Amino acid sequence: MRSLLPSMSERVNLFEAYTSGLPPPDMGPFVRVNMISSLDGALAVGGRSGGLGGPADRLLFSVLRSLADVVLVGAGTARVERYGPVELPRELQSARQERGQAPLPPVAVVTQSADLDWSSKLFAATSPRTIVIAPGTTHVDKLARAREVADVFTTGTGAVDLASAVRALAAEGMHHVLCEGGPTLTTSLAAAGLVDELCLTLSPQLAGSVGGPLMGGWLGSGGLWLARTHLSHGSYERRFQSQPLTQLVRLQLVHLLEEDSYLFLRFRRRGE
Ligand SMILES: NC(=O)c1ccc[n+]([C@@H]2O[C@H](COP(=O)([O-])OP(=O)(O)OC[C@H]3O[C@@H](n4cnc5c(N)ncnc54)[C@H](OP(=O)(O)O)[C@@H]3O)[C@@H](O)[C@H]2O)c1
Repeated sequence: MRSLLPSMSERVNLFEAYTSGLPPPDMGPFVRVNMISSLDGALAVGGRSGGLGGPADRLLFSVLRSLADVVLVGAGTARVERYGPVELPRELQSARQERGQAPLPPVAVVTQSADLDWSSKLFAATSPRTIVIAPGTTHVDKLARAREVADVFTTGTGAVDLASAVRALAAEGMHHVLCEGGPTLTTSLAAAGLVDELCLTLSPQLAGSVGGPLMGGWLGSGGLWLARTHLSHGSYERRFQSQPLTQLVRLQLVHLLEEDSYLFLRFRRRGE
C-alpha cells in the first residue's frame, strides 16, 4: 500500500499509520468506525459487504481489529454477515498482550430486539465471551437467554443509549471501540456525537446503489460530511430505525492510502 496523502515514497506500515494520534486510554472512550463503500455509495452487494472488498481491505480490517479493545457491531450486520468471534494470528495476539490488551477483542452486538441466534458461533465464544448490548426495557426472558451465552449490558429505554454503552465498555477497560457497522448503528453513533474517527475504504466498483438513504454522501475538499449512503440490492429489511442526524458531523482527513485502486481514507472528528 502506498500513501498519497501525506505523500511518501516508501511503503506504509499500517500499524504505525493507524495508531498515530490515538488518544491514550485515560482520555476516555475512543470510537473508530471502519466501513467500505463502492464508488456509487453501496455498502453491500447481494446483501453483504464482502463483494466490495479486496486483499488490502481485508488486511486493514484485521489490523484495525488487532488494535481495538472491542469490536462493536449492529445486530443486522451480525446476522447478515454471520459474525463469529474475532480471530487474529498468534503474533498479533502477542503484540496485543505486550500493549497490555487481552489477546483477542470481544465482539459486542447492539440490538433492540434481542432476537439473535444464540446457537451461532458468535455465542459459542468463551475467551472472550461475546457481549450483547440491549435496551434496559428488553423482556427479562430474552435477557436471561442472552446471559446464558454472553455478557449482557443494558442501557436506554426502547433503544440502546449508545453514549452510556460506550462509557460502560470503557469502564470495563474497553476504551478503544472499533465499530464495523452497519449503517443503522453507525448513523446512531454519529447522531449521538460518538464517532471520533472514520476509516472509509472506497472500493473501485460501481455496484448499482439503490434503496433508501442511510449514511454517506461523501464530500471532499478537506472535510467530510456524514449525511447519507445507500445499501445496494437491499435484501435485508431493518426493523430498527436509527436516530437521524440532525446536524452535519465535520471530519478532517488524516491520511489517504491507495492499493490496487482501492482508496483508504482515515478521518478524525474535526476539533471544535
Ligand atoms: N459496507 C460496510 O462496511 C458494511 C458494514 C456493515 C454492514 N454492512 C451491510 O449493512 C447491512 C445491514 O445494515 P443495517 O443497517 O441493518 O445493520 P446494523 O446497523 O448492523 O444493524 C441494525 C440493527 O442494529 C440494532 N441497533 C442499531 N442501533 C441500535 C440502537 N441504538 N439501539 C438498539 N438497537 C440498535 C438493531 O437491532 P435489532 O434488529 O436486533 O433490533 C437494528 O435493527 C448488511 O447488508 C451488511 O452487509 C456493510
